[in-house]
Amino acid sequence: MTTQELCAAARRMLAMAYVPYSHFPVGAALECMDGTVFTGCNIENAAYGPSNCAERTAVFKAVSEGYRDFRRIAIAADTEDFCAPCGVCRQVLHEFAPKLEVILVNRLGETRTLTLPELFPHSFGGDILG
Ligand code: THU
Repeated sequence: MTTQELCAAARRMLAMAYVPYSHFPVGAALECMDGTVFTGCNIENAAYGPSNCAERTAVFKAVSEGYRDFRRIAIAADTEDFCAPCGVCRQVLHEFAPKLEVILVNRLGETRTLTLPELFPHSFGGDILG
C-alpha cells in the first residue's frame, strides 16, 4: 500500500469515530510488516475514562487478530493542525513497534512523517523488567 493509500484509509475512519463529547474525530491505519492494514477510530464514553483513541483501537484490533509486527501508522484528524498521538498511545505503540514510522495527515491531506523514537524518547519498555 502506498503512503497515500494508507493516509486515505486513516481519513476514511474519521466517519466511523464515535465522538459525541469531544466532537474531535481521529482515524488511524496501522500497516503490519506483511502489508496487512488494521484501521481504527476513537470511541468515546459518557464516563470519559473508558474512551479509546483511534491508534489504540487499531493496535488492539491487530494484536487480537494475531498481528504484532508493525511498520507504519497513519493518523488522521479533521483539523488543519496535525494530531500527534497522546502519551498513552505512544506507550502502547512502543510496546509492539519501538521504531514505528508515524505519518500524521490533516484535513487538507498534508502529511508530516515522524518516528516513534522522535515522539517518545527515553521510553519505558519491557526490556528493563528482565
Ligand atoms: N484522540 C485520539 O483518538 N488520538 C489521538 O492521538 C489524540 C486524541 C481522541 C481522544 C478523544 O476521543 C478525542 O481525540 C479528543 O481528545
